[in-house]
Amino acid sequence: MLTLGIIKPDAVAAGKAGKVFAHLEKAGFTVRAARMTRLSQGQAEAFYEVHRGRPFYDSLVAFMTSGPCIPMALECDDAVAYLRQVIGATDPAQAEPGTIRKLFAESKERNAIHASDSPENAAREVAFFFAESELKGLWG
Ligand code: CMP
Repeated sequence: MLTLGIIKPDAVAAGKAGKVFAHLEKAGFTVRAARMTRLSQGQAEAFYEVHRGRPFYDSLVAFMTSGPCIPMALECDDAVAYLRQVIGATDPAQAEPGTIRKLFAESKERNAIHASDSPENAAREVAFFFAESELKGLWG
C-alpha cells in the first residue's frame, strides 16, 4: 500500500533530504513518486485543514510555506503504520532513538517529516500531490 511522506522545509534547508531518502529506503520503503515543490499559502492551508483552529495552525502553515519541501508517495506493506513508526513521535524529544525525527528534527513544529495518520488520509494526501498517472505511469 501507499502512504504520503513530506520531507519538510527544515530538513530540505539543512541539506538532510538525501539522508532521509536513504533512511526510508533502508527501512524498506519504495519511493513511487517524489518532487520538490514550494507550497502556496492555499495549498498548505488545505493540506492541514484538519488542524485549522488549533493554536499551532498559523505557525505550521507559515513554516510549511517557508521553503521547498519534498512530498513522496511511499510504498510498503502496512505503509501507513510502518512509516509513522519509522519517523517517530511528533516531538523529537519524545521520539525513539533511530527514528527520522530523533535523528533529523529540530522541534515539534520543525520536525523534518510528515506522515499520513490513517489509510483514509493517506489516500487523500497522496492524491493531493500526485496524479494517478504519475503513480502508475512509471511502473506499468
Ligand atoms: P505533521 O505530522 O506534519 O502534522 C501536523 C503538524 O503540526 C506536525 O507534524 C507538526 O509539525 C505540527 N504540530 C503538531 N503539534 C504541534 C504543536 N503542539 N506545536 C507546534 N507544532 C505542532
